Amino acid sequence: MTMIMFSGGGNSLKLAHAFFILLVLVHLRPALEFISGVGVGDANNIRCPETERQALLKFKKALVDDNGQLSSWRSKDKYCCNWKGVHCSNQTGHVLELHLSENRFNADQPLRGMISPSLPELPDLTFLDLSQNDFNQSNLPELIRSLSNLKHLDLSRTNLSGPISHQLENLSHLQYLNLLGNRFIIIENLEWLSHLPSIEYLDLLP
Ligand SMILES: *[C@@H]1O[C@H](CO)[C@@H](O)[C@H](O)[C@H]1NC(C)=O
Ligand SMILES: *[C@@H]1O[C@H](CO)[C@@H](O)[C@H](O)[C@H]1NC(C)=O
Ligand SMILES: *[C@@H]1O[C@H](CO)[C@@H](O)[C@H](O)[C@H]1NC(C)=O
Ligand SMILES: *[C@@H]1O[C@H](CO)[C@@H](O)[C@H](O)[C@H]1NC(C)=O
Repeated sequence: MTMIMFSGGGNSLKLAHAFFILLVLVHLRPALEFISGVGVGDANNIRCPETERQALLKFKKALVDDNGQLSSWRSKDKYCCNWKGVHCSNQTGHVLELHLSENRFNADQPLRGMISPSLPELPDLTFLDLSQNDFNQSNLPELIRSLSNLKHLDLSRTNLSGPISHQLENLSHLQYLNLLGNRFIIIENLEWLSHLPSIEYLDLLP
């Protein structure tokens, strides 16, 4: 709490002035947010681009969420940077990271279903952890190719299946790749590995 002393006309004039500025700021901020769309606001209320918010909602739609891990992902909520597991750039509002490991939520039921084709609509994504969810023996989608900014990809124990080859070729910034514990994934060859010059951690154990 701030103590405000009233000792003369000059001070109360300053106070009135300060009040006026405060009022202007209070009214200006929503207007600024409306105009710029992203990035304005305090650290807890960064607004992500609408295309990325829609991509996240589509991602959720492709999943069965028995435990409500994604219950904070609400279509009416504009502030997708506040959604559980979503990290944004606090400068641009773009979604940078998705932390959706089942472990993280300490839940009994994993997310089940498929990896939505909307993921490439998160162009700045660098970190994707979907470990321990259940992708129902679907194939690692081709669309992973276009997530070319990914540095960290954890798909361990996700019940994925099928051949892995060129899907990972384009991820030239990838430092961490974990495919551990997917019994039905078939590593046809390791040619794609030569396209991952930054790789530091690799686990392909079935
Ligand atoms: C913005 O993000 C950087 C790292 O990306 C972090 O160090 C900084 O504390 C953040 N600023 C705010 C206001 O949250
Ligand atoms: C899993 O795949 C089967 C078909 O292979 C489908 O019938 C079922 O609905 C899928 N389950 C989920 C949770 O997506
Ligand atoms: C993997 O997916 C298959 C096909 O939907 C399902 O029958 C099986 O229960 C899943 N396995 C695990 C360990 O989640
Ligand atoms: C591969 O990454 C580049 C950017 O590095 C991107 O322009 C291109 O569309 C990606 N290719 C595929 C097949 O997604």
